[in-house]
Amino acid sequence: MGEIDNGTVDLSSMDEVFEQYSEEQGALIPILQKAQNTYGWLPGDVLELIAERLGVSPGQVYGVATFYAQFYLEEQGRHILKLCDGTACHVRGTPILVTAMEDGMNIRPGETSEDGELTMEIVYCLGSCALAPVAVLDEQVMGRMRPQMIVRRVEKHIASAKKATEA
Ligand code: FES
Repeated sequence: MGEIDNGTVDLSSMDEVFEQYSEEQGALIPILQKAQNTYGWLPGDVLELIAERLGVSPGQVYGVATFYAQFYLEEQGRHILKLCDGTACHVRGTPILVTAMEDGMNIRPGETSEDGELTMEIVYCLGSCALAPVAVLDEQVMGRMRPQMIVRRVEKHIASAKKATEA
């Protein structure tokens, strides 16, 4: 079992979630989903609180949270870039896209940038192999991505999102 992160978070936001689900044991997954919507990820303190309120061990909660790819156990960036490294994408250039991101934005797979803007993940086949290599930036699918384009596209996306929140 991995380490549970013990970052300090405001646990009072969970009250509403528990009220909604009446602390039923079968509600673990929806509770984890709500918690992640609230915090953007699942801090260790939140996992422990959920275990306590549902009367199960923290290990059980952690086990479920790590089983499903939808749950994040580490703080995520404001934007998520997924690079597909399934077979079709791999042979059509994903490793070069990874290198372009490492060189251009100083970020490696599985990392979040120091400014908290971007998390970069490697995924395996998004079902759009005809568009390989495929990158997904937040909800935006970017097919036939080229190394000379990717950093610019990501920077532009982050900059316009910042502008929109400042407006
Ligand atoms: S291998 Fe990348 S979309 Fe299928």
